[in-house]
This record gives sequence, structure tokens and C-alpha cells, in this order.
Amino acid sequence: MKILNFGSLNLDYTYEVSHFVRPGETLAAAARSLNCGGKGLNQAIALAKAGCSVYMAGAVGSEDGGILLNQLNRAGVNTDNVRQLVDIATGNAFIQVDGNGENCIVLYGGANQAVDEAMADEILSGFISGDWLILQNEISCLPYIMEKAHEKKMIIVLNPSPMNENVLRLPLHYVDYFLLNKDEAEVLSDHAEDPFAALKERYPDAKIVITRGSEGSDYWNGNELIHQGIFKVEAVDTTGAGDTFTGFFISSLVRGLSDRDALRTAARASAIAVSRKGAGASVPSLDEVLSCSLKEI
Ligand code: RIB
Repeated sequence: MKILNFGSLNLDYTYEVSHFVRPGETLAAAARSLNCGGKGLNQAIALAKAGCSVYMAGAVGSEDGGILLNQLNRAGVNTDNVRQLVDIATGNAFIQVDGNGENCIVLYGGANQAVDEAMADEILSGFISGDWLILQNEISCLPYIMEKAHEKKMIIVLNPSPMNENVLRLPLHYVDYFLLNKDEAEVLSDHAEDPFAALKERYPDAKIVITRGSEGSDYWNGNELIHQGIFKVEAVDTTGAGDTFTGFFISSLVRGLSDRDALRTAARASAIAVSRKGAGASVPSLDEVLSCSLKEI
């Protein structure tokens, strides 16, 4: 059984600011850094660091994407399915991080939006029934990829971030696992008072995680609802924390951990990611996640 993460790869330009820039304002940043990111790359690194063997698929520009491939390779992720395209820039993100570690992001899709059906067919031909497919919402051709993966009977995991109108046009009834934050759950459930109840009714075969920031996370595994609190850390940069959660949660399930332990491991890993700068670079190792002394609140 193989794990394919078909998603985005971005160059993250991160600016440390006192507050998010306002309309008409010119704001000086206290620091700037270039980090490896993209929800696809971050989740692939988290899946690998949490102990699974992972194949990354997607696209970067041939001139500026090498740094992202290096970072993935260093984390042990297979990059044979990442295409290096000519005459197109690697996707990039302009990220402001404020004093509370909160972020806001402007995204330029670049090569991530050049994923097409031919590329998808070629990549998916290397995967079979029972293999896992992890998806986010930062690449083109998602509906086609989901159709083909469903035909092959792959296990489909969807983290529909960033949420936009395209998500509502996806064949969501093919999804086996949804990983949602509370805003995404609200949109997908049509703003139902009880998003879990609405989502369970709409997607009866799906397993669903909803993360709720300081209120922790909940997992509907088809039989019971499991709650997990958060672990207290000093927030430095929340960028990539959700991706770390997704990667550790799915990797833990694949490695055979119980649902409860998978949720707990994911919550610990994302807390550590919040305490560090950057996205891909903030993903902890499994050893750190298991040994770090963290207080649950
Ligand atoms: O989830 C964090 C990621 O969102 C960043 O790495 C940025 O590239 C955007 O895709």
C-alpha cells in the first residue's frame, strides 16, 4: 500500500509584522525569510516525518523549484512525480506573521495551477486500489484527479484548504476522510447549527475530523466521536500547523495507531509546529512529538 500526496509546492516569503497591513498602508517588516511551503509539500513532509513512506506529486518551475525538491528529499519524500515545468514560476505565498504568530497569506498558484489531466493520468498509473491519496485545494485538475482515484478505488483524503467555491464543485461524495477546520466545516455543511450532524448525513461513509483552534479537535470515525484537547505552547508562527496535523493524523492511522492515539499525536505535532517559524521547516520529527513534554489543556 502506497501513500500519494498530490498537492501544491510553494516558495513562502514570510514577513514578520506588528499587524497585518491595512488598505493604503505601507508597513515595514521586522524580518523576512524564504521558506519551503505549500500545503501539499508541508503535508508530505509531515506524513514522512510521522513515519510513513510518501510519494509527492505536483509541479514546480524548472528554474526556481529545486529548493523545494531538496527539502522534500531531505525529509525522505519520494519526488519522482513532481514535474519541473519550463517557462512557469513555482507557486509562491506572501505571508505576514504578526506578534501573536497568526498569519495571513496571499497565494500565487504558478506551476501548481498547471497540473493537467495528462499529468494526472501518468502519475496515477503508478498507484492502485487501496493506496492512499491525500489532497488539498491548491492545485488545478482536482475534480479529474478525484474521479480517476475513485475509479481506481484509492482511499481519498481531502483537506479542502484554502476553502473557496471550487471545493463545492468537487465530487465530495468520493471522499473517505475529510480534514476540516471549523470554518471549512461550516461552509461544507451549509452553515448548519451542528456541522458534524449535517456532514454525517450528507457524506455517510466519510470519516471526519474538525479542528477548532483553542477548543481542540473532534474525530467522527463512523462509530463514535472522539475529542482531543490542545497542548499549550507559545505561538510563534501558525503557518503549516494545520498541515502538520493532517500529515501526522493520516500517517498515524496508516501505521495502525488507534483513532484516539492518532488524534493525540496530530495535536502534539501541530502544537510543536506552532512554536516554530516557517511551514515545512516547522514540522517536528516523530521522536520530538513522542518525547516533548507538553501540557494538555
Ligand atoms: O498551510 C500553510 C501553507 O499555505 C503555506 O506554506 C503557504 O504556501 C500556503 O500554501
